[in-house]
Amino acid sequence: MKIIVGKTAGFCFGVSNAVNKTKKALKENKEIYCLGELVHNKEVTKELEESGVLFINKVEEACNSIIIRAHGEPKETYEKIKENKLNLIDLTCPKVMKIHDIAEEYAKNGFYILLVGQKKHPETIGTISYCGKTSDIIEKEEDIDKIVDKLNKINAKKILIISQTTFSIEKFENITKILMERINKTAQIEIKNTICNATRLRQEEVYEIAKKVELMIIIGGKNSSNTDKLYKISHSICENSILIENGQELDLNYAKKFNKIGIMAGASTPQKSIISVVEMLKKV
Ligand code: F3S
Repeated sequence: MKIIVGKTAGFCFGVSNAVNKTKKALKENKEIYCLGELVHNKEVTKELEESGVLFINKVEEACNSIIIRAHGEPKETYEKIKENKLNLIDLTCPKVMKIHDIAEEYAKNGFYILLVGQKKHPETIGTISYCGKTSDIIEKEEDIDKIVDKLNKINAKKILIISQTTFSIEKFENITKILMERINKTAQIEIKNTICNATRLRQEEVYEIAKKVELMIIIGGKNSSNTDKLYKISHSICENSILIENGQELDLNYAKKFNKIGIMAGASTPQKSIISVVEMLKKV
């Protein structure tokens, strides 16, 4: 059996930075609260919980140091942390922070901002709060009609299109293409593809590996946006694509039917999960 493991599989810079700094903060602080899951991976969450991180859903539940995770948070969260006089450990990925800065600057300069991303994803919820009142989220092609009607009705003169860092490149390009065709031609439209490099490289690599193998295994959290995109790309090329969170979910009887297997993992999947799947396959 030949196994191809993606070179970009596993932790991205932002996730590894967040996990390492959380571990460091645990050594220096008595109590650490983390607002939501630090990254979208159950195993990482479990390990941090066992080391002492207290996961909470509201700022008010914290009473010492509070972590803002890699996806970032809306502006209001920072205000609440200040009001509650908490020690802030901001682990928002620099790539996400950069989008917040871009959004604030363009909003200040009178741009209507269109954020292409998943409406319910924490990163999108955070970013939209920096986009000002004249902004909208576009998740799918079906959202475009309503938004274009609105833009044309208010005669929006300056429009900025940005993206969630982990969005599908193909989908973003398609949505921007339709928007360019449909928005009033007199408007000034700026497009900033803010999909991060880590996402782009993973999406390109999964595409290449999926073309060469009979079975593609994507490892990552079921609630991880970038893992979901990897699975969808993989499935569009290789019909035998499966998404698992870890080795325990791997059906070896099914996997052993294939001679060439590809492995890719999301940006929040720890190396040990990838290694355990490879080890299991090697034993077949
Ligand atoms: Fe940051 Fe991109 Fe990872 S935004 S957290 S480097 S997936």
